[in-house]
Amino acid sequence: MKIENNQLLPQYLMYKEEYLKKVEEVLESGWYVLGNEVKNFEQEFAEYNGAKYCVGVASGLDALILAFEALHLNPGDEVIAPANTYIASIMGFTRNGLVPKFVEPDEYYNMDATKIEEVIGPKTKAICVVHLYGQIANMPEIMKIANKYNLKVVEDCAQSHGASINGKKCGTWGDVGCFSFYPTKNLGGFGDGGAIITNNKEIDDEIRMMRNYGSKKTYYFEKVGYNSRLDELQAGLLRVKLQHLDELTDDRRNDALRYLNELKNPKIKLPKLKFGEAGHVFHLFVVEVENRNAFIQYCEKNEISLKIHYPQPPHLSDAYKYLGYHRGDFPVTENMADHIITLPLYNGMLSDEVKYVIDKLNCF
Ligand SMILES: Cc1ncc(COP(=O)(O)O)c(C=O)c1O
Repeated sequence: MKIENNQLLPQYLMYKEEYLKKVEEVLESGWYVLGNEVKNFEQEFAEYNGAKYCVGVASGLDALILAFEALHLNPGDEVIAPANTYIASIMGFTRNGLVPKFVEPDEYYNMDATKIEEVIGPKTKAICVVHLYGQIANMPEIMKIANKYNLKVVEDCAQSHGASINGKKCGTWGDVGCFSFYPTKNLGGFGDGGAIITNNKEIDDEIRMMRNYGSKKTYYFEKVGYNSRLDELQAGLLRVKLQHLDELTDDRRNDALRYLNELKNPKIKLPKLKFGEAGHVFHLFVVEVENRNAFIQYCEKNEISLKIHYPQPPHLSDAYKYLGYHRGDFPVTENMADHIITLPLYNGMLSDEVKYVIDKLNCF
């Protein structure tokens, strides 16, 4: 049996009729940018998350760039961010001239809230929280610190659509929540897309204007903006998928819980849940193994496809060489990067396929 790490076709086929109907509806409408589909998606996504406002943009990275721009911090100000994350989380604010202060992860792979205060200095103005792999970070503790030091909070929810603590969804704890709808994401479109959610009207107004050349009124421009609009086709297709998001999340969670309950190999360190099942939407199922090369070879032999999210932490990337960090600066993160491995998990994965992976991995 060959097991893919991820596949997008099965979940398209699940709702194929609805998608095709929506495509036809949008194409026949004769209106393709900033129309009713975007407007309705924004309303529905805000409501789904329990936020007042939502603005659709062109990608998750744009959502982060626009969110930080709307906070009006000064170049050189510092932003506390997880050392262990996808590099786009960091690019969102460094593009605004802001400087990262990295914090090592806790045992749940998210920023360790107990280590945040150590890096707060006079230039610290914000925290960029990432809910990595689908698990919500320790928002109650992070918000306590943010409030104590008067820091803005941007949540990177690109991997965590719908993850919550006591019913309060990610993206609604801080000032702004940023989402990606890249096709592999839990709420993935059929191309690029992103959104921000907020309860702050000024932030909503500003991002709404900036995504459209800095214009509120057609052909009148208040600021030098961007072209970063979610298009009608993506918005329409995302509306279809949003209606099924909770069942898609349950489907992922069921497979993930089977891995958690049935993988019984001491050589494979399983992820832990910090805030119960609701706190994790299992965008990725990441485990740790001591001898990763041997594990990869074993899985290759058994036709189980693996990925590494991510092999190189941002502070060691060429992109951030200018910050002057070296190997050894963030040992917890670096050790994770050397041992993590992502098991197959996607919507539409068959029960027999999950069982095959479990059986094979228990024999490693
Ligand atoms: C944590 C995180 N932040 C930001 C992004 C950027 O999203 P996008 O690819 O839509 O720009 C991604 C995904 O690619 C991500 O995983």
